[in-house]
Amino acid sequence: MRVLGIETSCDETSAAVVEGSGSDVALRSLVILSQDAHRVFGGVVPEIASRAHLTAIVPVVERALADAGTTASALDAVAVTYAPGLVGALLVGLSFGKALAWANRIRTVGVHHMEGHLFATALEHAGAQPPFTALLVSGGHTLLLDVEAWGRYRLLGATRDDAAGEAFDKVAKLLGLPYPGGPHIERLAAGQRSAPNRFRFTRPMLRSDQRLGDPDYYDMSFSGLKTAVLTTVRASTDREADRADIARAFQDALTDTLVEKTARAVDAFGRTRVVLGGGVACNGALVSAMRERLAPRGAAIYAPSPRLATDNAAMIARAGVFHAERGDWAPLDLDAFASAPLPGLVVT
Ligand code: KG4
Ligand code: ZN
Repeated sequence: MRVLGIETSCDETSAAVVEGSGSDVALRSLVILSQDAHRVFGGVVPEIASRAHLTAIVPVVERALADAGTTASALDAVAVTYAPGLVGALLVGLSFGKALAWANRIRTVGVHHMEGHLFATALEHAGAQPPFTALLVSGGHTLLLDVEAWGRYRLLGATRDDAAGEAFDKVAKLLGLPYPGGPHIERLAAGQRSAPNRFRFTRPMLRSDQRLGDPDYYDMSFSGLKTAVLTTVRASTDREADRADIARAFQDALTDTLVEKTARAVDAFGRTRVVLGGGVACNGALVSAMRERLAPRGAAIYAPSPRLATDNAAMIARAGVFHAERGDWAPLDLDAFASAPLPGLVVT
């Protein structure tokens, strides 16, 4: 089947076409228009995002269809993000997607943005199929899941405050770096000056006495780490000289927590595959640390390439194929939601 995906939950207007069935789904086209207008504000401004989506949605979808050598009437379904995200931004893609489907007498699939992130890696790696342990790390969410099958997700842990990407963005701001901060922190951290690093931050929510069943065994928290960075930056007498070392110490602490929590899930469920998703999965240090730690246990790590790790419509279209094959069609009155539970959650 041929599915058009549409994603407008935050500040990327994206459309993509995928084609295939079951685990054999190929990407035919992908267009991502990142809104530059937010840069000067140091974060996403919802009203600006909605307006920019309105301007971009038609040309972005037209380009994705043309790049795939297809037309709207030749599609089998339109898959569109309905939650979570900025409601005004979501509504643009959702309304457009439903109207396009209705006008062409095809059906719509509503996709949960985080389930999209879960499917992204499968477009690039044939091995990224369940069962696996999944770590989704984006600007708004941090989820540790056990995926026994597509559509069956056991939520093991989540952040109790800031998401991993949000921590990168906030720390970047403290260090005078632009938004979004993740890639800038990674670059700065690579230039660490002192060895061993003069700075070290406590690994958040990580203690060796935590046991399976403890509420904090899988959960994460990054706001304390952000405060620790703030205190260190303030105490620094030569910020310019210390920046790279502080960035590296922050990245090491955050990465260590993510790797350890993922390792616990791999062990508990005996999984041999780990799938990463979300913008923070672009971080090379995180992916390497994950491989280093889990390869000796026989677990393969699958990370999407940067364009599929950050927000994109290819992952929405890919998740759309799965739901379309199951007949999970959306009614025409499907609404947008700022937050919504991941569909398919199984109770632990
Ligand atoms: O998944 P995503 O594109 O959007 C959300 O759904 O939130 O993730 C964006 C987040 C931002 O917080 C950004 O700073 C982070 O991903 N990010 C990174 C890197 N590239 C993007 N964080 C760490 N290292 C990177 N290389
Ligand atoms: Zn996202």
